[in-house]
Amino acid sequence: GTGKFVVGGNWKCNGTIDSIDKLCASLNSGKITADVEVICAPPMVYIDRVQSKLKAPYQIAAQNCWVSKGGAFTGEVSAEMLKDANIPWVILGHSERRSLCGETNEFVGLKTKYALDTGVKVVACIGESLAQREAGDTLNVCFAQLKAIVDCVTEKDWENIIIAYEPVWAIGTGKVATPDQAQEVHAGVRKWMNENVSADVASKVRIQYGGSVNAGNCDELATKPDIDGFLVGGASLDGEAFVKICNSAA
Ligand code: G3H
Repeated sequence: GTGKFVVGGNWKCNGTIDSIDKLCASLNSGKITADVEVICAPPMVYIDRVQSKLKAPYQIAAQNCWVSKGGAFTGEVSAEMLKDANIPWVILGHSERRSLCGETNEFVGLKTKYALDTGVKVVACIGESLAQREAGDTLNVCFAQLKAIVDCVTEKDWENIIIAYEPVWAIGTGKVATPDQAQEVHAGVRKWMNENVSADVASKVRIQYGGSVNAGNCDELATKPDIDGFLVGGASLDGEAFVKICNSAA
């Protein structure tokens, strides 16, 4: 894709006030190259605290939001609230929400459209399970997840969407996809976008790889032509490692 290399840190449901303050201090003391965009996604309860602590160039994302206008939806956070609180990004369709919270492809598509219409940019996650990979279904699974988003959004909306390819078998397992495995899917996704959205969007859209990215494997992954960034889980809780990952394309 065109545009800056983009690295996200998905802190998931981790941290305490103490550990999060330390992480913010560590991130602020790191030197991030000017050629990268960095987006940190703290747990919702700490989001305001992190937003007030992290300095540029760090941007903030929520890890989820509701599918439509806020109201009687106990436990949810609406896209309007994110917009109101100046949270520019939201991660949607993470595999943990798909598998543990029952979010369907269609639901993720609707959420994506609603967030974009509200003025919140989206990191949209896709990816296959181990069983799906072993059955040879990797690309079809990713394409179905993408199609549900494409069906909801306009071509122009893609200016504000990052795709995160996260093979479920690589998430939190230490089993990173090889650079060739990741590149193969990223290239397949870009080709599909070319055929199903437009050549312009396909060439521009940034595709992150996620799944056991760490300070040791990021440099090689970053050399692949269709890997435009990373979505980092575990290693994003270590400030020094995360800064190293952010600088991997420089
Ligand atoms: O959103 C991040 C991914 O789920 C990757 O997590 O880096 O801990 O494997 P991980």
